[in-house]
Amino acid sequence: MKRTKIKALLATTDFGNEVTVMGWVKTFRNNQFIAINDGSSIHNIQAVVDFNSTEESLLKRLTTGASVAVTGTLVESLGKGQRVEIKVKTLEILGDSDAEKFPLQPKKHSLEFLREIAHLRFRTNTFNAVFKVRHALAFAVHQFFNERGFVYLHTPIITASDAEGAGEMFRVSTIDFDNIPRNDDGTVNYKEDFFGKTTNLTVSGQLEGELAAMAFGDIYTFGPTFRAENSNTTRHLAEFWMIEPEMAFYDLNGNMDLAEELLKYVIGYALTTCADELEFLKGRLEEEEKLKPQQERSELDLLSKLNFCLENSFERITYTEAIEILKQSKPNQKKQFKYLIEEWGADLQSEHERYLVEKHFKKPVILTDYPKDIKAFYMRQNDDGKTVRAMDILFPGIGEIVGGSQREERLEKLEQRMSEMHVPAEELSWYLDTRRFGSAPHAGFGLGFERLVLFVTGMTNIRDVIPFPRTPKNAEF
Ligand code: 4AD
Ligand code: MG
Repeated sequence: MKRTKIKALLATTDFGNEVTVMGWVKTFRNNQFIAINDGSSIHNIQAVVDFNSTEESLLKRLTTGASVAVTGTLVESLGKGQRVEIKVKTLEILGDSDAEKFPLQPKKHSLEFLREIAHLRFRTNTFNAVFKVRHALAFAVHQFFNERGFVYLHTPIITASDAEGAGEMFRVSTIDFDNIPRNDDGTVNYKEDFFGKTTNLTVSGQLEGELAAMAFGDIYTFGPTFRAENSNTTRHLAEFWMIEPEMAFYDLNGNMDLAEELLKYVIGYALTTCADELEFLKGRLEEEEKLKPQQERSELDLLSKLNFCLENSFERITYTEAIEILKQSKPNQKKQFKYLIEEWGADLQSEHERYLVEKHFKKPVILTDYPKDIKAFYMRQNDDGKTVRAMDILFPGIGEIVGGSQREERLEKLEQRMSEMHVPAEELSWYLDTRRFGSAPHAGFGLGFERLVLFVTGMTNIRDVIPFPRTPKNAEF
């Protein structure tokens, strides 16, 4: 099936040629103008049919959603809104679409409604743009690391460990729930299970990533991760994609530099390769913002926000400094925060993160040196005995986009922290081997891919930047 993609035709000035386009009908107006989209561009091509010489029954089948093959001459368009159009010679309906039943009518649908028909929402302008940008960002991530000699490591999806020690795992099992094998004392006999022990979907590829970093130097993972946390927010998914670089002979400063460089690189890549899509998404966001009260609207439009992020260095402050700022802040003094900041050691909620980024600094912020009690067991302990070499990157409108740390490379210190936090050392003996044999200072971080896509596209719900979102009580498609 020979066809030319619409993106290429819209860019050409080579008029008079015969071309074939295949795509889906967006609209059919005046019994004459078909707007066709084939997904290659956010823009449609217009095909003009001569209704006098076309069968009435064929014209009737040109309904929104139908798939068509159109052959004709590419001509300069006289109409407004497009530069080129096709003068149709032959027209074939490849797949009909019943206008009465097709849910995507040529009008504005709410994002909530489109989420319910996620199998069809790819065909809208918004989701065409969102998933093109998502693709570009994924590609840019690989390009960034490849240019720097990082090895792309595929860490397991099914694991027996809890990398974050937070217990938010989905069990992987083939046990028949209607006929559970039991030990004499009544407990479940997992020896009978597929792997002969309990296993779960990975929450992070970090621990395995560290093993490889201790051989290759610089590695990264980019894969799906799973969290069984019951968070029904616009920024949490039960299944999300994470990019996790891990580097030997790196300290926290190098780690922060790399993360900042990566974010700027991939945002810059999207700006140059997805200009049409981002222009469309900028307009979409402006429409959405008009519905909000003035003081809640963003000061910058989407493109200015992305460029601002590229042009300014991220603010770097310690957790302790952040707590001081928050304690003195207006919403804390006036008791407007849901969780008031009273003392050092408090975990930061998204309202606090957003205050720091959107109100106080008005730019991305990297917070470092968090209290050890609110962070994972593997982070390097500072000499103060209270804090660890952690870093979180906070973004406007998003909150935490990156979480990372320098790792505890000293065996004794790590073992002691694991025991304090009840992390089973026997099960992680393979992990501890890296500290036993040629341990080295190292660091890494995790970038939540959907939070990145949210930021770049200006969408406001994380369910709208992954094709088929998984959230509590929802696993459709
Ligand atoms: O801060 P987190 O939990 O860190 C880790 O998993 C480390 N092992 C990373 C590392 O150092 N290699 O998660 C990292 C990032 C967060 O900053 C956030 O962007 C994203 O992953 N994230 C989620 N995104 C969507 N839905 C969720 N439920 C998420 N949980 C974390
Ligand atoms: Mg985190």
